[in-house]
Amino acid sequence: MSCTLVFLLVALAAVLRSVPSQALSASGLQIQLQEQLIVQHNDSVYVQRVMRLAKSAEMRNYMQPDTDACENFYEYSCGNWAKINPAEAVRPRETNYYQLLDNAYRHKRLRLLEQAADPESDDAAVLKLKRFYASCLHFRETPRTLYRQQLQALVGEFGRMPVFLLPGQEWPASEFNWLETVARIKNKYGFDILLRLDVAPDLHNNTRNRVYIGQPWKLGLESKSMYSSAVAELYRQEYVRHISEELVQHLHVEAELATVTAREILNLEIALSKGMVDPLTTKPLSGLTQSRTAADLAAAYAPTFNLTQYIELALGHVPNDTLYEYVPDYQKNLLGVVSSTPPRVLANYIFQQLLQKLYYDLDAPAVDQCLSIVGQQFPEILDHMLYLRLGDAATLTDIQDLWKDIKASFRESLQNTSSVWITATTRELALEKLNATHLQINGYADVNFTDRYAQLHIAPHDYLTNLRAVLEHETRQRLKSLSEKPASLPAPTKRSSLAPVYLATENAVRLPVALLQPNFLWSRYYPRALKYGTLGYLLARELVHGFDELAGSQADWWDAKSTAEYGKRKKCFKQQYGRFRQDGHYLAESDLQAENIADNAAVQLAYKAYSDYLKHLSSSAIGSEALPRLQQTPQQLFFLSFAQFWCTDADDRFKEKVSLLNIHTPNAFRVIGPLSNFQAFARDHRCAAETTMNPSQKCQLYGITSK
Ligand SMILES: *[C@@H]1O[C@H](CO)[C@@H](O)[C@H](O)[C@H]1NC(C)=O
Ligand SMILES: *[C@@H]1O[C@H](CO)[C@@H](O)[C@H](O)[C@H]1NC(C)=O
Ligand SMILES: *[C@@H]1O[C@H](CO)[C@@H](O)[C@H](O)[C@H]1NC(C)=O
Ligand SMILES: *[C@@H]1O[C@H](CO)[C@@H](O)[C@H](O)[C@H]1NC(C)=O
Ligand SMILES: *[C@@H]1O[C@H](CO)[C@@H](O)[C@H](O)[C@H]1NC(C)=O
Ligand SMILES: *[C@@H]1O[C@H](CO)[C@@H](O)[C@H](O)[C@H]1NC(C)=O
Ligand SMILES: *[C@@H]1O[C@H](CO)[C@@H](O)[C@H](O)[C@H]1NC(C)=O
Repeated sequence: MSCTLVFLLVALAAVLRSVPSQALSASGLQIQLQEQLIVQHNDSVYVQRVMRLAKSAEMRNYMQPDTDACENFYEYSCGNWAKINPAEAVRPRETNYYQLLDNAYRHKRLRLLEQAADPESDDAAVLKLKRFYASCLHFRETPRTLYRQQLQALVGEFGRMPVFLLPGQEWPASEFNWLETVARIKNKYGFDILLRLDVAPDLHNNTRNRVYIGQPWKLGLESKSMYSSAVAELYRQEYVRHISEELVQHLHVEAELATVTAREILNLEIALSKGMVDPLTTKPLSGLTQSRTAADLAAAYAPTFNLTQYIELALGHVPNDTLYEYVPDYQKNLLGVVSSTPPRVLANYIFQQLLQKLYYDLDAPAVDQCLSIVGQQFPEILDHMLYLRLGDAATLTDIQDLWKDIKASFRESLQNTSSVWITATTRELALEKLNATHLQINGYADVNFTDRYAQLHIAPHDYLTNLRAVLEHETRQRLKSLSEKPASLPAPTKRSSLAPVYLATENAVRLPVALLQPNFLWSRYYPRALKYGTLGYLLARELVHGFDELAGSQADWWDAKSTAEYGKRKKCFKQQYGRFRQDGHYLAESDLQAENIADNAAVQLAYKAYSDYLKHLSSSAIGSEALPRLQQTPQQLFFLSFAQFWCTDADDRFKEKVSLLNIHTPNAFRVIGPLSNFQAFARDHRCAAETTMNPSQKCQLYGITSK
């Protein structure tokens, strides 16, 4: 027995014993050992056997087979997850599959960064990245006073922060102009404070870039309801405490003043939030974006502020063509907020927002902190480096094939009787759009990073100076891209997000490199059922998002009859999900059913794609669509892998917070809802009529007519 195999079995044993406190690291360890095993062996039959045993053990561990699969398929699939990956009152407050993927991805990034810089083989940009990382690690030895002086000097570039005043000093209010301050910060470091400015593809014609100005993505708390809901008071208190501690720790502000200042910051954000749309539930490119001329923007909020002036200061010039304003209601509300807030409070807020992005915790472990910082500042190049390792030809072909299968399923579903509710004209347009939708893996294969970072200079030790240089460099590149064709620069992403997303401006589904990591959800050693049930489902879900109300496109090309029919079907979901209860409480009945609709369609489309795949398999190949010691048929394996993707444990406060954010249905219902609407699930599990998983009333929008 080889050495690695012994290790693997040790790791497996740890998982099997389900030692709660070590479990997360145990399964992380298991995965890494599996990877080593693959690297070190070339006997694929042998490796496949071991890998399948390991996956089977993992899947069985999470299950609670005593639960009736027809009554609660989530419990049946995930009932033991919490024992193996328990959430804790501190961190992690939630455990799930994305976290396992994220941990493994962090490890891979770390291994890249820890490789000694090699001027021979490393790309020039990679050398800069490694030098930056080294300067970050080194910074932990900086004396506190020096660190504070550096932060103060940063503020000094733009003005004076009132909390820095010594007793007896007066803050020169007359020298402060909030709009100029935030515009100059934007111009130099790229931060969006109070206002947001983007250079991004035109929402009506993605072959050119435009300027967008308006509401920032989000404020300090995750969602709008966190600022208003009575239930969220606890989180607001926690937020105030957190800001206040930061002011003390990083800026040496006296404790009482820090608390007062933190409260003022919260109150200001509460006032700002009143005009916001919630970015979590509304995509910004929807009807909330208006086209404007420079003159419109100058006049709209006169005489209080002049958005054209902001653009001029932030960009260095005012483009003479169409500009877009995001969420005008936010600006209308801002008008009142800036008029009624003392300038001193605005100034503290603006500088706290600026400094917060540059804080370095001298007491925290440097490796973890620097890994996160590098991940935030250089996400594309890190993704690119890992893409070169993970994106081998076989994997990429495999994923493209899966994508084609999913698209074919959707095409068939749109052409089929299941979609007769959409009028012929709208359906034709939908098919055209579907044809044009493409898959993007964000490996940045076509970006020349040496070129991109040519102007960036990184000094060996001076971390904060380096960070400023990186931010300035990034900002110059982004703002400059106005005159360039889109795609010359990778579009700004929601950084470090692991979930695939649908990009409306590009009509593409983007798959993060982190999801190319094999042996979690899928692997060439596992049955295909697992790949369709997880990755296939995820791709299908984003594909469907391209056709929903949030994509903002629906209004453009859906005719009245199809829209009305869509509304009817949406209502079915609204009522159905409103009947689910968690911990004795009904879920809020929500008009936002896009996520639920996408979940429902996606599992059906992925299932259909998998069924088609099975049809073309020889009977001997079908035999490999099983896992040792699991009795599941190929179809049941598909459903099990889908359900287990959603296994989670959350501590009670975290659950409460998620329900406040109120976007996604709780995980259990993301399994129960879609599967109980799906006839094929009931058939494959022989669920009697009117069991929970097989109600007679099923909701359907996009999907397949099964028989
Ligand atoms: C497997 O590895 C051994 C030694 O590392 C090598 O001699 C052999 O050719 C390899 N076999 C295959 C099929 O790659
Ligand atoms: C989009 O803009 C380009 C120029 O940037 C122009 O040639 C093209 O006609 C425009 N397309 C549409 C549909 O307006
Ligand atoms: C707004 O700012 C622009 C650019 O600085 C300037 O040209 C314009 O006159 C200003 N408009 C008003 C109403 O102040
Ligand atoms: C806008 O500016 C560009 C150069 O910046 C110029 O070529 C173009 O003619 C201008 N268009 C209008 C309508 O003024
Ligand atoms: C979609 O593409 C396929 C082949 O790629 C083609 O046969 C079909 O006509 C296209 N359909 C539409 C509606 O454009
Ligand atoms: C990237 O750009 C640099 C300098 O601009 C150039 O020397 C190099 O050949 C380019 N690399 C590739 C792969 O195109
Ligand atoms: C299309 O309709 C046929 C007949 O109703 C059915 O057998 C087939 O499964 C349907 N396909 C999809 C994708 O709904």
